[in-house]
Amino acid sequence: MNIKFPDNFIFGAATSSYQIEGNNFNCNWSDWEIKGKKTLENCGKACNSWDRFKDDIALLKNFELDAYRMSIEWSRIYPTPDKVDTEALHHYSEILEYLKENKIKVFITLQHHTLPKWLKQGWLDKNIEKHFHNYASLIAKEFSCLIDTCMPINEPAVNNALGYFLKEFPPGTANFIAAIKAAKNQLKCHYTAYHAIKEFSPEMPVGYNKQIIQFKPHKNSIVNKCLSYYYDCLFNKAFLNIFHNEKLPILRTKIPGFSKTVDFWGLNYYTHKWISLFGGKNKKFSIKETSQMTQTGWEWNPEGLVEVLQRIHSLKNIPVYITENGIATNDDNERKKFIYQHLKSVLNSLEKGVDIRGYFYWSLIDNFEWNLGYKPKFGLASIEADTFDRIPKKSGFYLGKIAKSKKLIKP
Ligand code: BGC
Repeated sequence: MNIKFPDNFIFGAATSSYQIEGNNFNCNWSDWEIKGKKTLENCGKACNSWDRFKDDIALLKNFELDAYRMSIEWSRIYPTPDKVDTEALHHYSEILEYLKENKIKVFITLQHHTLPKWLKQGWLDKNIEKHFHNYASLIAKEFSCLIDTCMPINEPAVNNALGYFLKEFPPGTANFIAAIKAAKNQLKCHYTAYHAIKEFSPEMPVGYNKQIIQFKPHKNSIVNKCLSYYYDCLFNKAFLNIFHNEKLPILRTKIPGFSKTVDFWGLNYYTHKWISLFGGKNKKFSIKETSQMTQTGWEWNPEGLVEVLQRIHSLKNIPVYITENGIATNDDNERKKFIYQHLKSVLNSLEKGVDIRGYFYWSLIDNFEWNLGYKPKFGLASIEADTFDRIPKKSGFYLGKIAKSKKLIKP
């Protein structure tokens, strides 16, 4: 097997605003934690990246990575529907300028699991498309010369499944009709943001971010096969096929031109799920079949990355960035092994003709893992609890060595 990545292949690490910035009190997540007590811990100051962003960028430099995927917190930019917080805008421009000075490529996400709390109905708000359009336009107008690519929404299907089925994210309901309506609005927001960005910056590549989970029937039984197919339709097809047939999920309404609103796939890949009608204890529908488990209880399956890359490649042959791939573990050697095995799958897929342009490890630093609080350790660096100092881990340097040599080096 070829062990060399193309010369222009980029390696980076990813984060999201709410999970690292701290003191974000204007979005639906802070309400959810504080009023709903739905998380193991509150986010609070997170990694204090709002103040310590230079330290995050220093880590990227120290590891010798090429790129950073980060998100902007919509509710900071727009504390109310029509008012822009110029200080917040200025703060993000400082971060982006600092990244540019340090020659780090920037991949921006506009919405990463949080929504401003003034959107009382969340994704169901009847004006969400208009508001998202304004926000995307503003970011494109202010920052297009500072960013390299943009993805409007981080993995809408995850947001939808956890918020409208599994009750782990706000609004914490299990309501099929609401989930369909939310999906419709998420996709419309992607569409409108794509055009808003292109208006100011026609050259900027705008991507669609999708976590793909393959649902596999336990013991290959007919019932489990049907169930797996059903989950695949809800989680994957409903959020992907529109780029092929331009039809909104279930409602079948067409959005002409939708298939053209993607310049690259942003693929998030972590795990697969074994589906069984009877499920395992507390596991709802999925069970565990192997021993490669992470702190979040996910099985890791590097070969599955080849399958999902092939899947999006067949849907639309456009460039792909792996925008998230990572493991929650306290064992940093295990993290290196995880990275090695997944990068092997990347090389394998490149050989099969998939146009993969880059790989982002999730996450640059240990951070707030939503309903699971601070327990899962995904980071290439840890955060000192009292001082917020960043402590690099060996896995960060390992990924950096690969980035520099463009060669898959054994851990
Ligand atoms: C999300 C991140 C999250 C990570 C690990 C992804 O689905 O985009 O916000 O921390 O998975 O759970």
